Amino acid sequence: MSLRQENIAISTSTTPLIVLVLQLLLIASADSSRSATAGESVTMMAGCPGNCGGVGIPYPFGIGAGCFRKGFEIICNDDDAAPFLAGSGNSLIPVSDLSFDPPEARVMLPIGWQCFNSSDKVDGYRGPRVDFNRDGVYRVSHTRSHLVVLGCNTLAYVGSQHRPGVVDSDYDHAEYTGCLCYCNDSSSAVSGDCDGVGCCQVDIPPDITDNTVSFDGTYSHERNLDYSPCDYAFLVEKDNYTFSTADLRMNKNRTMPVRLDWAIRDNLTCSQARKTAAQVGGYACVSDNSDCHDSTNGPGYVCKCNNGYDGNPYLPNGCIDIDECLHPELYTCFGDCRNLPGSYECRCPKGSHSADPYSQQCIQNFPLPAQIVVGVVGGLFIAAVFIFIALLRREKRKMKEFFKKNGGPILEKVNNIKLYKKEDLKTILKNANVIGKGGFGEVYKGYIRDSNQLVAVKKPIHVSLEKRDQFANEVIIQSRVIHKNIVKLIGCCLEVDIPILVYEFVSKGSLEDILHGSNRVPLNLDQRLHIAAESAEGLAYMHSKTSTTILHGDVKPANILLNDDLLPKISDFGISRLLAVDHDHTMSIIGDTSYMDPVYCQTGLLTDKSDVYSFGVVLLELITRKKASHSDNNGLRQNFIDAYTSGKTVTEFVDEEIATTNDVDILVNLAGMVVQCLNREVDQRPEMTDIAERLHNMAKRVHSN
Ligand SMILES: *[C@@H]1O[C@H](CO)[C@@H](O)[C@H](O)[C@H]1NC(C)=O
Ligand SMILES: *[C@@H]1O[C@H](CO)[C@@H](O)[C@H](O)[C@H]1NC(C)=O
Ligand SMILES: *[C@@H]1O[C@H](CO)[C@@H](O)[C@H](O)[C@H]1NC(C)=O
Ligand SMILES: *[C@@H]1O[C@H](CO)[C@@H](O)[C@H](O)[C@H]1NC(C)=O
Ligand SMILES: *[C@@H]1O[C@H](CO)[C@@H](O)[C@H](O)[C@H]1NC(C)=O
Repeated sequence: MSLRQENIAISTSTTPLIVLVLQLLLIASADSSRSATAGESVTMMAGCPGNCGGVGIPYPFGIGAGCFRKGFEIICNDDDAAPFLAGSGNSLIPVSDLSFDPPEARVMLPIGWQCFNSSDKVDGYRGPRVDFNRDGVYRVSHTRSHLVVLGCNTLAYVGSQHRPGVVDSDYDHAEYTGCLCYCNDSSSAVSGDCDGVGCCQVDIPPDITDNTVSFDGTYSHERNLDYSPCDYAFLVEKDNYTFSTADLRMNKNRTMPVRLDWAIRDNLTCSQARKTAAQVGGYACVSDNSDCHDSTNGPGYVCKCNNGYDGNPYLPNGCIDIDECLHPELYTCFGDCRNLPGSYECRCPKGSHSADPYSQQCIQNFPLPAQIVVGVVGGLFIAAVFIFIALLRREKRKMKEFFKKNGGPILEKVNNIKLYKKEDLKTILKNANVIGKGGFGEVYKGYIRDSNQLVAVKKPIHVSLEKRDQFANEVIIQSRVIHKNIVKLIGCCLEVDIPILVYEFVSKGSLEDILHGSNRVPLNLDQRLHIAAESAEGLAYMHSKTSTTILHGDVKPANILLNDDLLPKISDFGISRLLAVDHDHTMSIIGDTSYMDPVYCQTGLLTDKSDVYSFGVVLLELITRKKASHSDNNGLRQNFIDAYTSGKTVTEFVDEEIATTNDVDILVNLAGMVVQCLNREVDQRPEMTDIAERLHNMAKRVHSN
C-alpha cells in the first residue's frame, strides 16, 4: 500500500517535466508523424475527444465511456496536459505518443532503485512496477526498448510474462534478462560508455507485461559506497538514454520513456478473429481496405490499412485512399501522376520516356536541339527537293521548247529517223567515249541497246543553228538516203539547243587519218582508186539519184570515213551547212577553205560543181599523200596544175608508194581528172557521175593488170 502511494506521489511531482516533454513532442509529431495527421480520415469514435494535451487519441484508444475499446482507456485530466494510460487501480501512466504503424504507445515509466547504508545493507528500495497493463493489451517493445542498469557491483534483470496461473512472483517468469556492472574504482566508469563499467545495457525478451525490475543483493558495495551508493535499473527507449557518471547518483524520482507494443489481445489469431466479425467487440479490423496482422509481441493481432490507404483501420471507412500525387516527397513520380484507389500511376508525358518514371527522370524522346536540327535539316531538304523539282520542270520545259523549235513535231511523223531523248544518250556522252573533235563539236562512240548497233554521236558545241527552220527538212532528206557510200543518219536528239546527231559508226576512221594521221596505212593504187571511185559514187548519188539534189559543201578527207574493208562513206551531208561557228557570225558557211571552191567563196552560191572542186582536191591528196594546204597559197595544187598543163610529168608529185607502178597511164589519167575538177571555169568541171564512172573504169583496169 505504501508503495502505491509513493507511486502516485512520483507521478504528480513529475508532471511539469512531462508537460514540457509533451509540448516538445507535439511540435515534433506535427511535422513528422504521418499516421497522426491522416488528413480527412476519421480517427476516433463520433462524439469522442480526439486529442489531449497535444497527443492524438485514435480509436481503439479513447477518453471516456464508450470511446475506447476494452483495455485502451486514456485519461485526460487536463486538456492542456499530457494524457495517461489508465492502469490498474488509480495508477496513471503519462503517454506522449499513440501510433498505428508501428502500433505503439510511448509512455513515461519510473526507474527502479535500491540504496545502501554504510554497513552495506539495503536501506531504501523501489521496484518500479506501475500496473499500467490493466487489461493486458500492452507489451514492452523488445525491439524499441531495452534494459539499462547503473551501479558498481550491481546485477539487475527483467522477466517476461508470468507463467499462466502464477501471479506476482518474481521467480515464475518464462524468461529473464539482465546485466552486471562493476567498477574497480571511482574513476573507472566513463560517461558515454555503457559497457559494463558503472553502466550496462541489454536487449529484453518479448512478452514483458509490466515495468518490473529485480536486483540481486549478493554483491558487495562496500568499496564503492562513497561514489556509488545506489543501484538503478530501468527500461528505456533505445537510443534515448546516454550514461553519465553523475547518474551513479541519479534522481530517484526520474522517469524514462518506454515504447509499448499494443494489440487486440483477445487471445485470437487473425484467422480466428475474422470469424468474430459479427460479434459486438469482435473482429477489430472493421474498415474497408484494412487487414489483420498477427501480433509480433504477445498474443492477438493488429489492424493495418492496406497499401495505398491511410487512416484508422479500427473504424468503419477509417482507411481512406492516399492521394499519392499530393505527396511527391513520399511517392516519387517523375512523370504525370494520377491517383488510383490504393495506388497511383506515373507515366512520362507524351514525347518522353523513362525506364521507370517512378524513380527515374523522363527524357525527351527528341531533345529540343535535335528537334531544331531535324527541323532545319528537314526544311532544307524539302527546299532542296522543291528547287530540284522546279529545275527539273524548267529543264523539261526547255527540252520541250527545244524539241518543238528543232522541228520535233514534224520529225515525229517520219518513220526512218529515230528521235532520241536526252536521257537515252546520257551514257554515251561521256568524256571517255570521245573519239574525235571537229570544228563544230565532239564525236562520241557509243552503243545503242535498243537497235543493237554502234553509233557515232555528234554533239555540236560552240556553234549556233543558223537556219533552224530548215533543220527538220534537212534531216528528213538525210534520213531517206540509204547508200553504201553515205554515212547513214540514224536519228537525232532535239531536246537541246543544237540538235545532237546520231550516225552509224564507221570503224576505220577518216581518209584524213589514214593518209596523214597517226594511223596512216600503206595504200596501193588499186586501193586508192577504189576509195576514190566509191567516194565519187556516193557524191554522185547525192547529186543526181535523189529526188532533190543534195549538195555536200564540205567535201574533204576528214569527211570521208572508211570501214574495215576500206569502203568509203561520206559523212556530214547537208546538215553541217546549217551550222555556223558561234563566235564568228559573219561566217555563214562552214567548210574547210583548203578544199573550198574559190568560185563558191566569191559568189557564196553552192553548186554541185563546188563539191566537184573539193573532190578534185581530195583526189590530189589521194595521189600525192600530201596535204593540200591553203596556207601555202595553194602551192601543191597550183604547182600540180602548172606541171600538168605544161605537159611535164607529174610523177614527181605522186606518192612514192604508187610512183613505181606500171600503170603510169592511169596516173596520168588521174592527174588529168584532178586538173579538170580544179578548173576555175565551173562549166568545164565534169559531173560527179562522170567522175565516178571513169574512176570505176580505171579501178577495173588496174585490177585486171
Ligand atoms: C544498516 O541497516 C541495517 C538493517 O536495516 C541495520 O541493522 C544497520 O544498523 C544499519 N547500519 C547503519 C550504520 O545505520
Ligand atoms: C583497481 O583499483 C586498484 C585500487 O583502487 C588499483 O591499484 C588498480 O590499478 C586498479 N586496476 C585497474 C585495472 O585499473
Ligand atoms: C529521451 O526522451 C525524453 C522524454 O521524451 C526526451 O525529452 C529526450 O529528448 C529524449 N532523449 C533522446 C536522446 O532522444
Ligand atoms: C522525490 O519525490 C519525493 C516524494 O514526492 C520527494 O519527497 C523528494 O523530494 C523527491 N526527490 C527529488 C530529488 O526530487
Ligand atoms: C485469454 O486467455 C486467458 C487464459 O486462458 C483468459 O484468462 C482470458 O480471459 C482470455 N482473454 C480473452 C479476452 O479471451
